[in-house]
Amino acid sequence: MSNHGGNIYKIEREFGVKKEEIIDFSSNINPLGVNKRFVKLLRKNTGDVARYPDPDYPDLKNKTASFYEINPDFTIHGNGATEILSLYFRITSPKTALVVSPSFLEYERSLSIAGARTAYFRLTENSGFNPDIENLTAEIRKGYDVIVVCNPNNPTGTAIKAADIGKILLETKKTGAALFIDESFMDFVDGRSSYSAKKFIDEFPGLFILKSLTKFFALPGLRLGLGICSDTALLEKMKAAIDPWSINCFADLAGKVIFDDPGYVKKTIELVSRQREFIFDAIYKNKNLKIFPSVCNFHLVKILNGMTVPGLQSELLKDNILIRDCSNFKFLDDKFFRIAVKDKKENEFIVKKLSKYLS
Ligand SMILES: Cc1ncc(COP(=O)(O)O)c(C=O)c1O
Repeated sequence: MSNHGGNIYKIEREFGVKKEEIIDFSSNINPLGVNKRFVKLLRKNTGDVARYPDPDYPDLKNKTASFYEINPDFTIHGNGATEILSLYFRITSPKTALVVSPSFLEYERSLSIAGARTAYFRLTENSGFNPDIENLTAEIRKGYDVIVVCNPNNPTGTAIKAADIGKILLETKKTGAALFIDESFMDFVDGRSSYSAKKFIDEFPGLFILKSLTKFFALPGLRLGLGICSDTALLEKMKAAIDPWSINCFADLAGKVIFDDPGYVKKTIELVSRQREFIFDAIYKNKNLKIFPSVCNFHLVKILNGMTVPGLQSELLKDNILIRDCSNFKFLDDKFFRIAVKDKKENEFIVKKLSKYLS
C-alpha cells in the first residue's frame, strides 16, 4: 500500500471505497477535528488564496512561542514537520546517524538523501519497545554525528522520560553528537512536561526539537511544523535555505486562532486518554492480539494467530476501516499494525470488527 498512513486517495483508487466514507485509523489526527473558530475564519478569508502569503508571519511566530513557552528566536516554522526535518539533515549534513527504531520512516529517507550512513538502535518487543538507556548511552559513546529519537515514538506509542533524555544529552555533549528529538505527538500526552526535552533547550545548543502541528490541531492537509533549538546560527542557516512562502496563507491564518483555545487542548487530552484506555482494555482481552501500552493517540498491535495484516486490512476495508500496516517499519513485520485513537463511536466500531475477524 503506501509508505505512510492516511493515504485514503490510494485506497479509493485501488479498493473503490469513497475517501469520505473511509474511517481512517491509519493516520493519527486529533479526533476533535479542526478548531471551529479557524474554520469560520478560513471561510471568511478564502480570497487570500489569490495573494502571496506574508513571508514573515509574525503573529504565527509569536503565538507559537507563547503557546509552547519558548523564545521565538529559537523557532523555525515549516510546511509540516517533514519539511523541517529534511532541511535539518540537509543543512547539518551528518556523516553518521543513530536512529532509535522502529520509528517514523522519514528520518531514514532524509538522512540518506543528506548522505548520512544510518545505524539503528533496536527497540525490542520483549522490552515493550522501551529503550534501555544504559545500552543506548553506551551505543552513543561509539561516536555518531546525530542521534534521532521520536518521543513519544511512532509507531510504538512509548515515551522516554525527560530525566532519561537528560542522560542522553549529557552523553551526546561528551561525544559532540547532536540530538534530534521529534515530539510531534507530545501534545497528546497527559503530563507531557515529565517527558518533553523542552526544558533542556537553553542549556544544550546541540538539541533540536521537532513538532508537527498537523496532528494535535488536525491540520494535515494544511501543513505546519515547528523546529526548536537554541543554536540560532544553525536556525539562521536553515532559514536562509528554506524556500520562500513555505508557510501558506491558511497556515498563517490558523496560527491566529488555534493557540487561543485552552478548552480544545484540555478536551483533546481528556478524550484521547479515556479512549486510549478503552481501546487498550478491549484489545487486551483478545487472545489473538497483543496491544502495547501507549502514552499518546495511537496504539501498536500485533496479530498472534496465523492472520497477516494485509489479510486483516482487506477484511476491515469491507467495513470502510483503514488501519496502518507496519511491515515497512524497521524491525517490524506483517503481524504489526497501528490504529489511531478516534472518537468513542469509531473506537467501539473497530474494537467490534477486530473481535469479529480475530476471535
Ligand atoms: C513522528 C512524526 N513526525 C513528523 C511527522 C510529519 O508531520 P507533518 O504532517 O507535520 O509533516 C509525522 C507524520 O506522520 C510523524 O509521525
